[in-house]
Amino acid sequence: MFKKILYPTDFSAHSKQCIDYILRMQNCGVEEVVLLHVMDKRVVVYGSIMSDSALDEEMLIKECTETAEKKLNEMARIFQQAGIRTKTIARLGEPFAEILTVADEVDASLIVIGHRGHSTAEKLLLGSTAEKVVRKCKRPILLVR
Ligand SMILES: Nc1ncnc2c1ncn2[C@@H]1O[C@H](COP(=O)(O)OP(=O)(O)OP(=O)(O)O)[C@@H](O)[C@H]1O
Ligand SMILES: [Mg+2]
Repeated sequence: MFKKILYPTDFSAHSKQCIDYILRMQNCGVEEVVLLHVMDKRVVVYGSIMSDSALDEEMLIKECTETAEKKLNEMARIFQQAGIRTKTIARLGEPFAEILTVADEVDASLIVIGHRGHSTAEKLLLGSTAEKVVRKCKRPILLVR
């Protein structure tokens, strides 16, 4: 039923809670997990404006991509050890938009996403990325609280 799971992560503790849920769903026919991290374009653009150099923007993107790939591969190993195939994707863009795009690209049968991420705003019930994904995506979603 849920052959291919898209797991978007911002590497926060909230998003890591999804791992356990995905592992426990193995008997629902899970064959592959696509781990996605989106490097927020707005943050990169802001960083490059402050540093005032095109080269710094390139460097920043390169460093973030390398770090994201390393972290995604570390997380992917957890699924591989459970016998699940993995694919890792690190992209630059607006998180919710890239999550929707990748969901279509890989034809995800389910998206497993955290309800919160790195934000420390106590009042926030649902983060803005999660909210937009839930609102705009037509695919099944498991929102992990
Ligand atoms: N950059 C990202 N790349 C991949 N997945 C992400 C990204 N940001 C958030 N997510 C996913 O969305 C979930 C909810 O995070 P979200 O960003 O919506 O909440 P927040 O960080 O608490 O609030 P906000 O970003 O609105 O201040 C995370 O647990 C993660 O699964
Ligand atoms: Mg966030």
